[in-house]
Amino acid sequence: MILLTFRAKIAFGYLRTPVVTAFRWLFESREISNFTYDLDETNRRYLIAMIADVVAVEPSAIERYVREIEANEALKRHVATATAGSDRGFMADPVVRFGRRIGWYAFARAVKPRIIVETGVDKGLGACLLTAALQKNAAEGFSGRYYGTDIDPAAGYLLRGEYAEFGRILYGDSIRSLSALQGEVDLFINDSDHSADYEYQEYLTIGDKLSDRAIILGDNAHCTDRLLQFSLATGRHFLFFQEKPAKHWYPGGGIGMSFKRSPPAR
Ligand SMILES: C[S@@+](CC[C@H](N)C(=O)[O-])C[C@H]1O[C@@H](n2cnc3c(N)ncnc32)[C@H](O)[C@@H]1O
Repeated sequence: MILLTFRAKIAFGYLRTPVVTAFRWLFESREISNFTYDLDETNRRYLIAMIADVVAVEPSAIERYVREIEANEALKRHVATATAGSDRGFMADPVVRFGRRIGWYAFARAVKPRIIVETGVDKGLGACLLTAALQKNAAEGFSGRYYGTDIDPAAGYLLRGEYAEFGRILYGDSIRSLSALQGEVDLFINDSDHSADYEYQEYLTIGDKLSDRAIILGDNAHCTDRLLQFSLATGRHFLFFQEKPAKHWYPGGGIGMSFKRSPPAR
């Protein structure tokens, strides 16, 4: 009995922080899904280091891109205003936080993609970050287009104004939209129907449309191994970044990263 009590104290000690945070969140947040938060500082640095390794650049270059999006006050104002004015605004928080999407942004800045596809747009927060990256790339002479897919005709209300100049949403079932897509995709982000079979079907559908240097980011890799499976089947490398939210009860999603790498020089 003494041992049981001692062991229970150890186990429940780990649960105390998320439970306290969840209580606070009940009163401080209005979100019901697709939660927003910042990354824990060390977690943010791990993400930067991992992306730098995948795209083979110095971590300082990736850190610059991350700081750039974190300091993008115009984008934050745009998201806050569009959210407040939408009919879903009552379920959103006034403070704009990007979570792991800062990693999507850094990839989009580092890779300078000609075509980005994001399946599953929801409000359009990811869409705004990705088009903001394309906006910066364009200013540096690298043009690119964003295509988001969503089955919900009300999705993507944040993709407006200057951000909408860099892309658009293809409404309807994602597999159908991907099948009809023209052009070579340099950055593909899977975040739509989160069932394992649907996710794999998306990879199979987009497979032939990926450029040689294409990077796939999976937003479902904390739930299924399908991106790993697809990577192994197609000779691609795979890494997984586990997101750690700061001051939030949500244990975090992740970013599955699938990429090809040239063999090291001999
Ligand atoms: C997790 S949310 C996407 C979040 C978004 N990527 C972001 O950055 O905030 C998933 C979205 O996928 C959409 N979705 C679900 N099934 C779909 C399907 N079969 N085809 C296209 N979109 C789908 C939903 O309508 C929802 O908006």
